[in-house]
Amino acid sequence: MPESRRKTLIAANWKMYKTAEEAVAFVRAFIPLASTHRHAEIVLCPSPTLLPAVVEAARNTSIRVAAQNMHWLDQGAYTGETSPLQLKALGVTHVLIGHSERRQYFNETDETVNLKLKSALAHGLVPIVCVGELLAEREANQTTAVLERQTSVALTGIDPASTGPLVIAYEPVWAIGTGRTATPEIADEAHKIVRAQIARSLTPQVAASTRILYGGSVKPENTASLCTLDDIDGALVGGASLVEASFEQIVANSAA
Ligand code: 13P
Repeated sequence: MPESRRKTLIAANWKMYKTAEEAVAFVRAFIPLASTHRHAEIVLCPSPTLLPAVVEAARNTSIRVAAQNMHWLDQGAYTGETSPLQLKALGVTHVLIGHSERRQYFNETDETVNLKLKSALAHGLVPIVCVGELLAEREANQTTAVLERQTSVALTGIDPASTGPLVIAYEPVWAIGTGRTATPEIADEAHKIVRAQIARSLTPQVAASTRILYGGSVKPENTASLCTLDDIDGALVGGASLVEASFEQIVANSAA
């Protein structure tokens, strides 16, 4: 169970799945299921084209909506990109930054993650910054170095007083979409490495209040064993978030 001052956060990363119609049907079915789970903040992360419909369907509920990515600039000649101003205007409240799929397939770097994090904080969007090691890095005993580098570069030049809602997601790349979840011990150790780096890069107070989520093959069956650990403050869920009942079960089990 996270320390009481850190509210559990469970986020659904829908990646490039669902049409607007399917997304709205999910939200309508999910609202009554989720309405009893007050212990957790619930965030849905749909594709950009679904954002207006999902924001509208979730209006007047406690469900919040995140973009899966954004540019760091307010506007400009950047074909195919979405700006923080455009997200804010839609009613989007959160944004994923530096997901491993963006790092792997779309040239996202530690430096662009840093620019996007600064921009999200400046615009009052809650950033969910993703970090995590590749399998080869874990096998080469580089996990600590990778997590420290990704976290410290992301936080470079950030004013500790501006980080109020900062969220980090630890997603070991070898656990994403593979059915291979990190054991609670592996996840807990990684979360402690990230939290210690936040303390060094910013302040111990910011480190203590930052929520660190686990992501990578989270399922209803493994949620409780992960979320009971002190340093795990919630989950970023891919595949198992696509169906209302399984995502609701994950939210319920995170209260364990
Ligand atoms: P899976 O839950 O499908 O492994 O995806 C995890 C993820 O990438 C969430 O951002």
